[in-house]
Formats: sequence, structure tokens, C-alpha cells
Amino acid sequence: MIKFKLNGKEVSTTADANTPLLWIIRDELGFKGTKFGCGIGMCGACTLHLDGAAIRSCSFPLLGAENKNITTIEGLENNHPLQKTWIEEQVPQCGYCQSGQIMQAATLLASNPSPSDQEIVDHMSGNLCRCMAYVRIKSAIKNAADSMSAEVQTFDPRATTQQS
Ligand code: FES
Ligand code: FES
Repeated sequence: MIKFKLNGKEVSTTADANTPLLWIIRDELGFKGTKFGCGIGMCGACTLHLDGAAIRSCSFPLLGAENKNITTIEGLENNHPLQKTWIEEQVPQCGYCQSGQIMQAATLLASNPSPSDQEIVDHMSGNLCRCMAYVRIKSAIKNAADSMSAEVQTFDPRATTQQS
């Protein structure tokens, strides 16, 4: 039996250890937000987080998830800045690639809260969008980064001290 945490809750499965994690998440555990695209790690539709890092779950064996923390789009922090800017920018067209795009983008902002345009492009380059929503994706990531840094400045205790 293989156990791991999915969106903060412990889950277990008796599936074969080589089964791609994506199928356990979608078919056995019923979390359908993570999508199947290419099945060979080339499109990013199946992106989720393993201990905070973005992985391609279509080509990641279940065994690799043992005792780890897995987060899917359903478990992404509520009111994540990306969710807000994704709506503001009306990013999705068909929507199929979008959970993978957001999960990939979330790892960028977690490690680099104010990425340059080039850093965004580089980080997102493995996530494909057949609807060509790339400009809106980039813009939503940039706006989320801006709103996160504005929030940090608002709550900067030094700023409060200097103003008072
Ligand atoms: S479905 Fe996993 S990378 Fe395409
Ligand atoms: S929005 Fe359709 S594939 Fe990206």
C-alpha cells in the first residue's frame, strides 16, 4: 500500500507502484482538475505539486509520491493571487491546459515573487496551450506578482514605523 497526502489529507492506494500518479489522482481519488494531454511529459496539462515542486504527473510513478505532499489545482490556496488575475485577464479559452498553467505559475511565484518577463517565459515554456493564450497567461502572472508585492509593502512593519 502506498500512502501520501493529497491536498492536506492522507490517502492510500494499492495500485501498482509504477502507475502514473495522474491516473491515481483522477480515476481512483476523483480529483479531475489535473488533465491528461500528451502522456509523455511534453505539454504540462497534468502539472501538480510534489512537496511544492511542479511535476508532470502523467509520467511520474506513484511510488515517487510515497509519503510526500501532493497538491492539485483543487488544493491550491484559496484566493491565490493567480486565481484573481486569471479571472481579471479572462485567460482561458477552451480551458483544458489551464490548471496545469496555474500550477506551474504558482511554483514560479513561490520562489521568485517578482519575475521578469523572460523569467516568466522560461518558467512556463513547457506548458503548452493549443488556444494560444500565452500573452494573457504572461500578463496574469505579472499582475499576480505585482499584487503580491503590493500586499507585502502594505504590511511592511518598517513602512508603518516610518509613517507614524
Ligand atoms: S499530459 Fe503530462 S505533460 Fe502532457
Ligand atoms: S486554453 Fe485551450 S489549450 Fe489552453
